[in-house]
Amino acid sequence: MTSEVKELVDGVLHRATAEVGLDVEYVRARGNTVFARGRDGTGVPVADFLGGYGALLLGHNHPDLVAHLANLLAQETPVLVQLSSQPAADEVVRTLNRVLHREFDVDEPYFGVFANSGAEGIEVALKHAEFDRGQRVDAMRAEIDENIGAALSAGLAGATVDGSVLGLPVGSAVDEVVEEIRVRNAAAFATGPRLIALSGGFHGKLVGSGQLTHNHDYRSPFASLAAQATFAPANEPEALRAVFEDARVTAYDLRITETRAEVVRRDAPVFCALLVEPVQGEGGIVPLTAEFAKQVQELGAEFGCPVVVDEIQSGTGRTGTFFASAQLGLLGDYYVLSKSIGGGLAKLSVTLVRAARYRPEFEMVHSSTFAKDGLSTSVAAAVLELLEAGDGALYRVAAERGRRLSAALHEVRAEYPEIITDVRGLGLLQGVEFGDLSTSGSTLAAQLQAQGQFGFLASGFLLHEHRIRLFPTGSAPNTLRLEPSVQVTDEEIDRLATGLRALCALLRAGDDQGLTAF
Ligand code: F0G
Repeated sequence: MTSEVKELVDGVLHRATAEVGLDVEYVRARGNTVFARGRDGTGVPVADFLGGYGALLLGHNHPDLVAHLANLLAQETPVLVQLSSQPAADEVVRTLNRVLHREFDVDEPYFGVFANSGAEGIEVALKHAEFDRGQRVDAMRAEIDENIGAALSAGLAGATVDGSVLGLPVGSAVDEVVEEIRVRNAAAFATGPRLIALSGGFHGKLVGSGQLTHNHDYRSPFASLAAQATFAPANEPEALRAVFEDARVTAYDLRITETRAEVVRRDAPVFCALLVEPVQGEGGIVPLTAEFAKQVQELGAEFGCPVVVDEIQSGTGRTGTFFASAQLGLLGDYYVLSKSIGGGLAKLSVTLVRAARYRPEFEMVHSSTFAKDGLSTSVAAAVLELLEAGDGALYRVAAERGRRLSAALHEVRAEYPEIITDVRGLGLLQGVEFGDLSTSGSTLAAQLQAQGQFGFLASGFLLHEHRIRLFPTGSAPNTLRLEPSVQVTDEEIDRLATGLRALCALLRAGDDQGLTAF
């Protein structure tokens, strides 16, 4: 009976993870440790380097947050009191503004919109950006209509205009030119939103956000449901410019002087948003270069395209600053936060919108029953208090633990350069990439790698032989992602290094039996 019930949820997924011994039940979790149910029923401690896909910067069941949540329940704190005043939500956004102003050295306010998950936070940004774009289109249309009206009423109706910009004769009648402008602009303003995202990027799996996620398998079957993005390669500044140039759409306006009218080109507001992760997470832990970040900022300004910085995984202190983008000098029009801002206990996201872009009317057209609930916002406020305490001591811990982790990984790489081809990341967001294993000597590893499954074999081995929990990402199956909490110890980092060494030695020796002995 039990096994039948289990099959009703993710049965296929569980059978796949069971093949490499990853179908473990965890019965308790605290700090950087999860306890797996052992054969005799006792909890076997496992060092957690997966960290709830990066949602556990503060660790599992942080005692201060558990006490805070328990207290909220004991106090009968209102959880769902929509449309009433929500002091915890206000406090979260006020604190986020303070942190953002400090890290980017700016003073423009950012308005906050709450939602329930990372993907939902992205959809909030997307919807808001399109709402804003629609109003920008309306404003340009009205402005051009006004100029046309002025031209016609200025007694220019009988005059001629140079229509060559529109492919009309130099001496075209004003009426004819106006008609052509109207036709062209109707098409320009009906252009769908231009959405630009990066290859390897991940922004969620909902209907809209899923189309911004690069992975073909997650995106393609659902392409008919939502607006499509154009994907530019990450860290290639000129390629990004080419995508913008290519997507540009021209509208036409009339500029009037006292005696004549002139046809001028304008860029139609077709750019809805450009989405970037400062460090791509699910795509294989790829930090953006400062040069690319600069290009993102410049092109966003040049083409009037809002920049959405997805800090869902990289943000909330994981990389040593609250915003990873602060280290790149990349100031966004939107920021999306989720994962660790819930302290591992609450589910929420916060989308921040820069005041210059913010459309207050959006508040009347977007909402969710559970968004901005009393528990998640209060836990988030407590998380921010922990992070900001002691002049940001925990950011420094994340940076120091990240350096310690990175140094240990680089040492292993130096010993097995033909197996581990790259170690990269920022702070406590690190990736270990395995090279081509087809000539490694391990038939099994080569075979699994060809199927995109090698990372799962490595994960099973490290779990059973070294009590290390980690995974590759869905989109970069040769890269193991490491996102431990700030509570990760030297012993755990050393154990990870020992486990990786043992794995590399087996691969080098082609010892397939050793790889699957567990
Ligand atoms: N954006 C980024 C950068 C993410 O890493 C994720 C999720 C999301 C958006 C979507 O958030 O899952 O709460 O809806 N990343 C997970 C991963 C799934 O594997 O890294 P969500």
